[in-house]
Amino acid sequence: MDKQLSFLDTLIDNLQQGLDNLSNIPTQSERPYPGDEAPESKLTLAEKKHVAGLMRVNHAGEVAAQGLYQGQALTARNEKITQQMQQSALEEKDHLHWCQKRLTELESQPSILSPLWHVGSLFIGAMAGIAGDKWSLGFVEETENQVMEHLDNHLEKLPITDKRSEKIIRQMHEDEAHHAQIAREAGAKTLPKPIKKLMGFVSKFMTFTAYRL
Ligand SMILES: [Fe+2]
Ligand SMILES: [Fe+2]
Repeated sequence: MDKQLSFLDTLIDNLQQGLDNLSNIPTQSERPYPGDEAPESKLTLAEKKHVAGLMRVNHAGEVAAQGLYQGQALTARNEKITQQMQQSALEEKDHLHWCQKRLTELESQPSILSPLWHVGSLFIGAMAGIAGDKWSLGFVEETENQVMEHLDNHLEKLPITDKRSEKIIRQMHEDEAHHAQIAREAGAKTLPKPIKKLMGFVSKFMTFTAYRL
């Protein structure tokens, strides 16, 4: 009975977090906003639109990260792993908040498909969790690796003058590397190549759509 109750509590908590994400009011984080480490630069209209597209992709990734970690928390069997994942999840909240803030600064907004990214990743996160902790950790590690590839790519595509976005992306990159390391040290299994490929395909679809919508 207790177990059922705590599962229900977690489920309700997750749904609430999901609603918070979808209402575009992410919980304020404790860490300072990395964008504030650099002054705003003068971007042309086209540059602004381009950077907003990149930040919208990052925001979509962070919405998906919320779902992924929440899905994990629902199914993780090991309490220590759950706690470590919750710490990573908290940092993902920072990322979500930073991306949202940068989009507002660029007079733009998150992807209109955010609900889809959240629900889809919550489902995938829960599926990975059901497969067992080691596979689930493998999924987290691979996701973080792919996110880092994206962030590297975005650093190359940013206008050289946009130091504010650069600071945000660099801090996120550092955090994602740490999340991947935590998952690895907790015993992540290396995912089979076809699964990695499928994940890469899904993330390409997300990138393509979130940049535009
Ligand atoms: Fe993140
Ligand atoms: Fe992460």
